[in-house]
Amino acid sequence: MKRIVDLIAEELSEAFEGAGYDRSLARVTLSNRPDLCEYQCNGAMAGAKAYKKAPLMIAEDVVKRLSGSEYIEDVQAVKPGFINMKLRAERIASYLNEMKDDENLGVEKAEEALTIVVDYGGPNVAKPLHVGHLRSAIIGESIKRLIRKMGHQVLGDIHLGDWGYQMGLIITELKVRQPELPYFDDTFEGEYPGEAPFTIGELEEIYPAASAKAKEDEAYREEALHATYLLQNGHRGYTAVWRHIMNVSVSDLKKNYKNLNVEFDLWKGEADAQELIPDMLERLKKEGYAHMDEGALVIDVQKESDTKEIPPCMIQKSDGASLYGTTDLATLVQRERDYKPDKIIYVVDKRQELHFVQVFRAAKKTKIVPKETELKFLGFGTMNGKDGKPFKTREGGVMRLENLIAEIEEEMYKKITDNRTAGEEEAKQTAKIVGLSAIKYGDLSNQASKDYVFDVERFTSFEGNTGPYILYTIVRIKSILNKYTAGGETLSGLTIKGALGESEKALMLEAVKYNEVLKTAYEELAPHKICAYIYDLANAFNRFYHETKILTEEDVGRKKSYLALLLLTKEILLSCIDVLGFEAPERM
Ligand code: ARG
Repeated sequence: MKRIVDLIAEELSEAFEGAGYDRSLARVTLSNRPDLCEYQCNGAMAGAKAYKKAPLMIAEDVVKRLSGSEYIEDVQAVKPGFINMKLRAERIASYLNEMKDDENLGVEKAEEALTIVVDYGGPNVAKPLHVGHLRSAIIGESIKRLIRKMGHQVLGDIHLGDWGYQMGLIITELKVRQPELPYFDDTFEGEYPGEAPFTIGELEEIYPAASAKAKEDEAYREEALHATYLLQNGHRGYTAVWRHIMNVSVSDLKKNYKNLNVEFDLWKGEADAQELIPDMLERLKKEGYAHMDEGALVIDVQKESDTKEIPPCMIQKSDGASLYGTTDLATLVQRERDYKPDKIIYVVDKRQELHFVQVFRAAKKTKIVPKETELKFLGFGTMNGKDGKPFKTREGGVMRLENLIAEIEEEMYKKITDNRTAGEEEAKQTAKIVGLSAIKYGDLSNQASKDYVFDVERFTSFEGNTGPYILYTIVRIKSILNKYTAGGETLSGLTIKGALGESEKALMLEAVKYNEVLKTAYEELAPHKICAYIYDLANAFNRFYHETKILTEEDVGRKKSYLALLLLTKEILLSCIDVLGFEAPERM
């Protein structure tokens, strides 16, 4: 469906043109002054210069031509030249009914579906997931769902950190602890055991232990580096250990991401790009894109227009080892080969921005990626504790994701059981669902690039701009609708009629914005705009609810219209939280 702003703009275009002005002046936006009007057009001001006329005169000319308008009930030209409009409730009602009957609630799918890769999550195998990975998962998942909702073909790729120094550390430590294992016997030619020599619990203890040792003990560090080198060069036993590490970690990661309602289409990692590196480097050298600089192989990416220095993208160290940039370039080679994406979006900590500037420039310059392909860095800020410093445990350590989730769930559980007497099982289940909304909404309601304070108290509150408040509103609507159907009535075939009350119209005006909000959120990759919208929508609903007798309304036509509006409001809220990556419980 066309967005309501566009439909109004079409009418205004006719009016502008009819009055002798350019049609393109008729851009319509939501009102900046909701106390005065619902929508506004500032085109008269924009046209004043070209027509050498006072904006107010232009606005008045246009307004005169809008008397028979289909959408606009009341229109005024006000100083200095605004065109302020209020819409006809009946026309909004019919728009809403059309939304209700449309399977996408009025969101138009893209005419031409693009192929878009979203690179997000980016956990490092064998290291526990911590809150630093939380933002990437939450924001990336939402971006992915939003893109899919707009009708594009999207591939979410976890891009595991599975090829680095941490692997050498684990191998080294394992060798110290269990030197008898066949992986460390270079004469061993048999088949390696199918079973991993460690559990996930042990693995998570091995890594930090090894990492700490390496910081103290230079020889140990050297050995870990060498083990990394051997692994990366195909050492048979180490490759077998690496497979074990991968299997054990990946199944644990899958469990963790599932708890977060995060699903990847692709479980590729840095390791998958390795086989493409030699040919890539060969070509880049041969075609003169890469050159030696102080022993390392680099690609220059500085541009004349740069105001600050952008160092070259390093693709091979003097010892022959590849780097983060090498892997990301080779991954682009792989993505080009396998998917030919129109666009790739990287959802990564904004402190990595320079790295991506270098990689993107190098990829374009070397034609690894065609120039039409959009490479987009969506950098996010840090999640801080209440003290304004990066989020830590009470003891000051790095907070593990599982513990963080558990903490929120516990808090939610307390609130839910305080509120009513839900059974133990149900309360736990609900605490899980609502807890996730608290975490995700708490994150997504901030503009991604900004730092934010993770505040358990505030995020789990049932009041204010929070996930639980949104869910509470949905549950409230569900309960009204359930009461209605429990009386034997049906919800199908209900239609919204024009609004009688002011709060009813206000709710309708919010509902009507849905497709516009999604479009903007998609174009700007801004889930926080969806949060802001559903907060307004929930507020509008709650105000309407407090001012209106719904189920006890005696006029049956009215009552059915209210229920139809509730049904649509619920569908919109559900669709939005689905894009944000969480769900609503039946009761709270
Ligand atoms: N594993 C990396 C980290 O923990 C994030 C990976 C981001 N994605 C990428 N293509 N480099 O910092």
